[in-house]
Amino acid sequence: MADPLLSTSLTRQAGIEVPLLCGAMYPCSNPELVAAVSEAGGLGVVQPISLTYVHGHAFREGLRLIRRLTAKPIGMNALIEQSSRAYRERMERWIDVALEEGVRFFVTSLGNPRWVVERVQPAGGIVYHDVTERKWAEKGQEGGVQGLVAVNDRAGGHAGAKTAESLLEELAPLGLPIVCAGGVGDERDFVRALRMGYDGVQLGTRFIATLECRASQAYKRAIVESGERDIVLTERLTGVPVAVINTRHVQRLGTRASPLARWMLRGRRTKRWMRTLYALRSLWQLKRGLLRDAPERDYWQAGKSVAAIDRVEPAADVVRRFGAAWRTAEASPPSTAT
Ligand SMILES: Cc1cc2nc3c(=O)[nH]c(=O)nc-3n(C[C@H](O)[C@H](O)[C@H](O)COP(=O)(O)O)c2cc1C
Repeated sequence: MADPLLSTSLTRQAGIEVPLLCGAMYPCSNPELVAAVSEAGGLGVVQPISLTYVHGHAFREGLRLIRRLTAKPIGMNALIEQSSRAYRERMERWIDVALEEGVRFFVTSLGNPRWVVERVQPAGGIVYHDVTERKWAEKGQEGGVQGLVAVNDRAGGHAGAKTAESLLEELAPLGLPIVCAGGVGDERDFVRALRMGYDGVQLGTRFIATLECRASQAYKRAIVESGERDIVLTERLTGVPVAVINTRHVQRLGTRASPLARWMLRGRRTKRWMRTLYALRSLWQLKRGLLRDAPERDYWQAGKSVAAIDRVEPAADVVRRFGAAWRTAEASPPSTAT
């Protein structure tokens, strides 16, 4: 039965016990990790390209593998940036298959989420939309989303530009449930985000350093050993800033896109072409970097939450420890007496 002390709008909408998501991670989301987080009471979110291209499962079979490991709710990430018709059709098919396989929680990133809402709502599905500022949140709300994932300036992957506090302040008036994404590495950070007023927390980096994640030992060790200052933003991977560990590879190449790439990214005609090229190349580079122990040749994505991550452990231990810390905090709320 749901623990009322842990209950938030997110846990009620997603049907989970702890207000915690393991966010979609290309290339780090593998079925075993997604399942372990959900089985422990959080919500594991499937990244379809990671599931198929990196971990080698046909999409439906990958979902069924997760289902064999847990009967609890899982989510799916839909990256819906308008790129090609073929990509859009593939995403539509993935969403339909996910609905058929019982997925009811979707996190959309980039683009207008209206078509996803229209597809999943009749089946009882919920859509949360990733945002980095209010303008995108308003667009998401117009498109009918039921919640927001607020990606802040400490997040792994494509980080936002604003702090967790200022994002919450500008998004709260919209009246939707808001999940904090970025910078949460331990249970103290988790409790702090929920105390701030967030309805849940989406973690990425913390779950790379788990037994279930298939990243190389070297990548996991780098997360445990890195501090905040080892995280830098590079444009060289996708053309927009991505948070990565400052490996020898990053140090050698620098973090700015080349002048030619920047010029092409500015051009009206060349922009789309350049973005596609970046996207395809980065998919391949990140896949290659996941499994091999080569900091001098690879990109390893991670956010500033590395500062609070001190061990590789089972994903369930993270979910349970964070949940227990929040339960304790809720049982003894901070004194408001002056
Ligand atoms: C290695 C890595 C890959 C990521 N890939 C994706 C992705 O494919 N789609 C997405 O929406 N977010 C992606 N993210 C963002 C996460 O879902 C999450 O919002 C973020 O990691 C939260 O910040 P944290 O890393 O500080 O916990 C990625 C993050 C990391 C660290």
